[in-house]
Amino acid sequence: MIILKKDMKEKRELINITLDRFLPRKDEYPKDIHKAMRHTLFAGGKRLRPYLAMTTFMLFSDKINKIRPVASAIEMLHTYTLIHDDLPDIDNDEYRRGKKTCHTVYGTDLALLAGDSMITYAFEILTLVDLPMETRITMITEMARETGYRGLINGQMADILAEGRETSKKQLAYIHENKTARLIRLAIRFGCYTARASSSDITRLEAFGDKIGLAFQIMDDILDIEGEKHLFGKTIGKDVAMKKATYPSIYGLEESREMATNLIEEAKALLEPYGEKAEALLLLSDFILTRKF
Ligand code: IPE
Ligand code: IPE
Ligand code: MG
Ligand code: MG
Ligand code: MG
Repeated sequence: MIILKKDMKEKRELINITLDRFLPRKDEYPKDIHKAMRHTLFAGGKRLRPYLAMTTFMLFSDKINKIRPVASAIEMLHTYTLIHDDLPDIDNDEYRRGKKTCHTVYGTDLALLAGDSMITYAFEILTLVDLPMETRITMITEMARETGYRGLINGQMADILAEGRETSKKQLAYIHENKTARLIRLAIRFGCYTARASSSDITRLEAFGDKIGLAFQIMDDILDIEGEKHLFGKTIGKDVAMKKATYPSIYGLEESREMATNLIEEAKALLEPYGEKAEALLLLSDFILTRKF
């Protein structure tokens, strides 16, 4: 039996070691950029996306070390999105992962550069991993597409455009699917590619990723209202203050929670064919609904 907290901690440690090895030392010249990169990267994230890549991979293989660099590249890309999302001209946030945001400590110039460096480095890592050339190219192409202007960037753009404006349910779903669900789904897909899963497994697990990805962002919106700062690690009430389009602002808290719960139920049903092997993914799905951080 898997204990989720313990399993997440163990896998988080593996990722942290891998990331630490990839990154330049913080006293390396020009040291401020390396310090800024490490600041948010090691501020204490959940490592949810690497965890998903790893546990998906482990549906098909037990050679966990094979997925570590791929999972670390995803976390690096994710951390860049957070650093840039927090910038004064985007969400203007002061806290992230329980610490002051990168730009608050190092300035906007360094936060931009630290984020930029993590995008390019994430791609470089994917070129280096020990997988067939074809798989590497597929992963690089998909990371570019899913996190670029046809994906995450457009989600962020639509999120900015929706601030203080009336937003339809369709637009809201577009924002959440693009800014958040796509990267979560990508982590799962990378787990499949690294394990050379079949295309029917990829289709099934992608559908799982879409559902938990949307549920994850709905719960993030709910935690922005009901969360506790010392656990959540971010300022509470920011979405209302910024007049963001969120699930609670459009559907209300109760219906939002119900929607997230239904998505998680549907997602878990997709894991049925994997039986006991899917235990970690099932527990992680439930965690999305109960998490406080
Ligand atoms: C925060 O993601 C950004 C969203 C998509 C809501 P996480 O909640 O996974 O943040 P960390 O990585 O644990 O800090
Ligand atoms: C998360 O949206 C999307 C990305 C960071 C790409 P939010 O703006 O809601 O994330 P938090 O709440 O700042 O983590
Ligand atoms: Mg945002
Ligand atoms: Mg934000
Ligand atoms: Mg949020």
